[in-house]
Amino acid sequence: MTTSNQKPFSYIAPGAPKVVKAGGVANLDLPILNLATNESSFGASPLVEQAIKERASQPNRYPDPASTDLRNAIGETFGLDPDLITCGNGSEEVIDGIARVYARPGDEILFSEYGFLQFPILCWRTGATPVKAAGDGLKTDVDNLLAAVTEKTKLVLVANPDNPTGTYIPAAEMKRLRDNLPSHVVLVVDSAYCEYVDDPAFTDGLELVAGHDNVIVTRTFSKAWGLAGLRVGWGYGPAEMISALNLMRGIGNVNAMAQAGAVAALKDPAHVDMVRAKTDEARNKFEADLKQFGVVAVPGAANFVLVKFPTEDTNRRAIDAHRHLAAENIYVRSNEDYGLDDYLRITVGTIEECDRVIESLQRFFAA
Ligand SMILES: Cc1ncc(COP(=O)(O)O)c(C=O)c1O
Repeated sequence: MTTSNQKPFSYIAPGAPKVVKAGGVANLDLPILNLATNESSFGASPLVEQAIKERASQPNRYPDPASTDLRNAIGETFGLDPDLITCGNGSEEVIDGIARVYARPGDEILFSEYGFLQFPILCWRTGATPVKAAGDGLKTDVDNLLAAVTEKTKLVLVANPDNPTGTYIPAAEMKRLRDNLPSHVVLVVDSAYCEYVDDPAFTDGLELVAGHDNVIVTRTFSKAWGLAGLRVGWGYGPAEMISALNLMRGIGNVNAMAQAGAVAALKDPAHVDMVRAKTDEARNKFEADLKQFGVVAVPGAANFVLVKFPTEDTNRRAIDAHRHLAAENIYVRSNEDYGLDDYLRITVGTIEECDRVIESLQRFFAA
């Protein structure tokens, strides 16, 4: 298990809530609990630290710019051709590269209404126009996405499960989306949280790539594999796309310790099984415990849960709970920027961490 004394980065940004208790005094004696950035609370395989230490003795040597060992290890683990894999400084970098390759000012980038915040950010970076397709409630709606495609659409991005909603669409729906997209549109399936889904109707989308030149799937080591601090992600797509992305990315974009750590992580898939089981256990208990406050979890699967606060009591809104939790050094994610003002997104950590949130909310609702 890991703990962090760092405040999550989002809270040192302008506009962050003031960390004060009623009476104006911050409760700084409590340890910081970051449940705002969907890191794993279950650490990484012990093999990772050992591999990093070994590589750390040669900081004077450049990393392999082609991440060859890592691509080979990913290929072996997932049954993929390593030549169709590109590695990135987190999957964020891979997704960013896709947008930089395909989107220009005047083009359109399409995503779901409550799609991951990086998607509009890609539009700011590339000058493309963001287009949002209404969801089916909080879930991606394939018909609405297809209806929003125009001649200007260059990319359709679907995070599955999505962030912040945690909702996902089944494999058949993702395939229907791919099959009905015109060939000038690239489909990006962002499967950052796929390891947490235990549903036979779901896949990570890797099977959608074969025989198509306009589909790419991104994956990350940041979540279930526990390597958020190393920054390693990867994309699997058609040869032409991978070669364009390899030209777009920086040389040595995945540093040597990160490559070594990720290769070691792949040798221990049982670690991910443990993380999935513990996350499930904690999530089930957490969702049940939240019901005592009338706080309802959105059905989904990820290492976080989006929860809706009751709206009748104007002193007990999500934003008030957010402030209260922050005053007790518990950081969770508010969602006004998604238009989901009544919701908080809370990382599912250990049972003890979730219990600390529940105990804090007991004080919040009793006050
Ligand atoms: C849906 C989704 N995609 C991609 C990422 C990027 O992850 P990373 O760059 O750490 O691989 C995140 C991070 O939280 C995410 O939530």
